[in-house]
Amino acid sequence: MLRARIVGTGSYVPEKVLTNQDLEAMVETSDTWISTRTGIRERRVCVTDTTADMASKAAKNALKAAGVSPKDIDLIVVGTVTPEMAFPATACLVQSDLGVRSGAAAFDVSAACSGFLYALDIANKYIKSGEVKKALVIGVDRFSKIIDWKDRATCVLFGDGAGAVVLSAEKGSKGVLSCHIHSDGKHWDMLYAQNSCPQTPFEDKEQASPFLKMNGNETFKIAVRTMGNAITEAMETNGLTADNISLLIPHQANLRIINATRDRLKLTDDKVYTNLDRYGNTSAGSIPLALDEAVRTGKIKDGDVIVFVSFGGGLTWASAAVKW
Ligand code: ACO
Repeated sequence: MLRARIVGTGSYVPEKVLTNQDLEAMVETSDTWISTRTGIRERRVCVTDTTADMASKAAKNALKAAGVSPKDIDLIVVGTVTPEMAFPATACLVQSDLGVRSGAAAFDVSAACSGFLYALDIANKYIKSGEVKKALVIGVDRFSKIIDWKDRATCVLFGDGAGAVVLSAEKGSKGVLSCHIHSDGKHWDMLYAQNSCPQTPFEDKEQASPFLKMNGNETFKIAVRTMGNAITEAMETNGLTADNISLLIPHQANLRIINATRDRLKLTDDKVYTNLDRYGNTSAGSIPLALDEAVRTGKIKDGDVIVFVSFGGGLTWASAAVKW
C-alpha cells in the first residue's frame, strides 16, 4: 500500500518581532492580559515579505531538508485565507518561485486555521491513488494584513508565518495514517474577514469592512469541544490510546484551549507541542511551523506517532495522524 511519507519539513517567519509590550503602546492592553488569557508573548509581522514569499521560503527549507529537487514535485497545495492575489493561486506563485516543472498541479485551499490539514488531506489522497509521487504541502497566512490594529480584542492574537512539508509516495508503515476534515458553515459568522474588493458602480450596499471579525468567547467554547472530538476520531481510526501518541501538535490559537484539550485526553504536558508564546496564531501556518520546530529540535524520532489537530473559521476542524 502506498503512503504519503513526510520526508522533509520547513518553515519561515518574518524577522520583525511584535511583543506584547509593543502592543501596549498601540491599544489599551497589557502583557499580563495577553499572556494569561492566551499564552502569547510575541508574534512576527511582515514588513517586506508577502504571503507568497513566506510560502516559498518555507517550501525551499522543506525541500532542502528532504533532499528533493523542485523538479521532482508533481503537486503543490497551499492552505491560506490571505492569498497573495485573488488569482492566480499562491501555489502557482510558489511553483514559479521554486522552479517546479511546468505541468505540475498547483492550487490553494481556503479553510482558515485548518488550511494546512485540509491541504495535507488532499495531497495524501493524490499520493495514495498513485497519481502523484511527490507533493509540497504548505500552510501560510499573513493575518497582519486583515487585522484591525486598533481592535484590542483581535490584534493581540495573530501573527504571520508559514510551514511546509514534502510528501513522498512510499510503501511501508510510515507516513500519513489518517486525515479527517470537517466543517459547519452555519457558524461562518463566528470568525470571518470579508473581501476588500472595491465597490462596483452597480452595488447598492455599504462597502464591507476588510478586517477580521471574531466572536472570541463562543469560538473558544466550540474549539475546546471540537478539537477534543477531532483527536478522538484520529485515535479511534488508528486504534491509538493516549500512551501511543508520541506528540500532539495542535493549532496554536490559545494556550487555554490547548491545555483544556490536553486534560480532556489525559495527555501529559511533554506530549503536547506549543510555540504560540513566540508566534501567536499564524492560522494555516501554525501546525507546519510547530512541526518543523519540533523536528529541528529533535522532539520527533523515527517511528513516533504524531497527531495534528486544527480548528478555525468556517467553522472548520481537522485531524491527522502520522507515523514518522
Ligand atoms: N487587552 C485587555 N483587555 C481585553 C483585551 C485585550 N487585548 N481584549 C479584550 N479585553 C477585555 C474585554 O473587553 C473584556 O472586558 P469586560 O469584561 O470589561 O467586557 C474582558 O477583557 C474579557 O474579554 P473576553 O473576550 O471575555 O476574554 P476571554 O477570556 O474570552 O479571551 C480570547 C478572549 C483570548 C479572544 C478568547 O476568547 C479566545 O482565544 N477565543 C478563541 C480564539 C480562537 O480559537 N480562534 C479560532 C482560530 S482563529 C482562525 O481560524 C483564523
